[in-house]
Amino acid sequence: MSKAPVLRLDRLLSNLGYGTRREVQQLIWAGLVTLDGEVIDDSNQKIFVKGDLAARMIVDGELLDPPPGLALMLNKPLGVTCSHKELGPLVYALLPERWRRREPAISTVGRLDKDTSGLLLMTDDGALLHKIISPRSNVSKRYDVTLDRPLRGDEVKLFAAGTLILEGEDKPLLPAQMEIVDGKHAYVTISEGRYHQVRRMFAATGNHVTALHRDRVGGLQLPDDLKAGEYRILNEADLALVLEARA
Ligand code: URA
Repeated sequence: MSKAPVLRLDRLLSNLGYGTRREVQQLIWAGLVTLDGEVIDDSNQKIFVKGDLAARMIVDGELLDPPPGLALMLNKPLGVTCSHKELGPLVYALLPERWRRREPAISTVGRLDKDTSGLLLMTDDGALLHKIISPRSNVSKRYDVTLDRPLRGDEVKLFAAGTLILEGEDKPLLPAQMEIVDGKHAYVTISEGRYHQVRRMFAATGNHVTALHRDRVGGLQLPDDLKAGEYRILNEADLALVLEARA
């Protein structure tokens, strides 16, 4: 995932949001940055930016933040938005404050509606982001859906057919899988990300989604112990699960 570019120490720290070049130089000159236990007080020192750097560098008494190539999963709470254009608190506010100043910036991998909770991936790795959202990767997303009215009975077949056209569109949806839990509750797995897709799929059947929660992206499951509002950094094995092709 991450290449190993070489960066000057002051550039590295300022890209990670620790301050302006001037501010991080003060930190470095004050002897507050160590690598493998040795103080580095030369702000021009070249650093190999590898994944293990976060475990080897200490800045002002704390391990360095993850270097670029960061990917994480957030359990997005209801009422929090992925878009700067929408009113309300942003998902970025759930991450450490310093991370908002990182360069490259962290973005959401696709979006969840303000009224949808659950597994949201975020990364600063543009290539990874495009790989996950590219239709060619066929990354599935599973939603736990609660409905206002009982299912009418033909939804599994209708969604699987690949013929359903949403209101205002002219291209049919790709086939989607649905598992019924009970009359007003189902899991729906889709491999596209059209605007309000799951809500509009049920609207097309005359129903209304009252709660929507994403619990899986590709083969990566939202862990039960990751509470709403919490995040976890992903490792290579997690990312391999995300990209694991599913039928
Ligand atoms: N479908 C929706 O309707 N909303 C989401 O947030 C995701 C999928």
